[in-house]
Amino acid sequence: MSGGAGVSQRAVLAAVALAVALPMVTACGADDVGRATESGTGAMTATVVSGDERPAAARAGAAEPVYGFGTPATAAQIAAWDIDIGPDGAGLPPGRGTVAEGLEVWERHRCILCHGPTGREGPNDVLTGRVPGDEFPFANDRSLRSTVGNYWPYATTLFDYTRRAMPFDLPGTMTDEEVYAVVGAMLYFNDLLPADAVVDSATVVDTHMPARNRFVPDNRTGGPTIR
Ligand code: HEC
Repeated sequence: MSGGAGVSQRAVLAAVALAVALPMVTACGADDVGRATESGTGAMTATVVSGDERPAAARAGAAEPVYGFGTPATAAQIAAWDIDIGPDGAGLPPGRGTVAEGLEVWERHRCILCHGPTGREGPNDVLTGRVPGDEFPFANDRSLRSTVGNYWPYATTLFDYTRRAMPFDLPGTMTDEEVYAVVGAMLYFNDLLPADAVVDSATVVDTHMPARNRFVPDNRTGGPTIR
């Protein structure tokens, strides 16, 4: 196996792991399930990443077949795709921003056009709003809109998603500093950070999201930490 091909394969597996891992966080209304989340998430991701889907011959160390097309991905190309961030913050880039800068980013990168001045007004997804008492009545109230403040369990995931997918029509156009800042703005809109907050990787990891304990990892294998 050449080094280049191996690295690119790992990048693909990492991307697959993220695609699998994100939907596999299952909403649950019970209050007592949060304790399972910490340990289980890491185990879940590790399981997916280590899954070796190469043909048996390649796993056994035999030379990989040569198909005569394509070129090994460069380190820069891999780095551009290898941007997944774990719930625990693994993979967060260096950098920092402030909530005040985030409010500027909110306008400069046109979040405001699709999500409104404070993330409540639309026309696209509502990002701002807490439920009184940080309850989680989604199963009983079908009209309740999920927001960053009432539904997202990890601010780390908010960073990952925002950097990866927003602005909707121009993803990938923000610097890491701008992403830190605009994540700070969204947390500020939801009363999860003060207006003068500085936002870096530690802030994103340490911000306790109201829905944090409403989700459990689900790797479809069951066991004492899974339900
Ligand atoms: C052109 C319109 C548009 C712009 C500009 C835009 N968004 Fe979005 N945003 C959307 C749409 C549409 C969705 C829903 C995407 C989906 O469900 O796949 C969305 C979803 C989101 C979500 C996830 C909401 C949820 O709870 O699922 C976040 C967070 C978000 N946007 C943040 C931002 C930020 C931050 C910016 C500015 C940097 C931004 N958006 C700019 C249209 C936009």
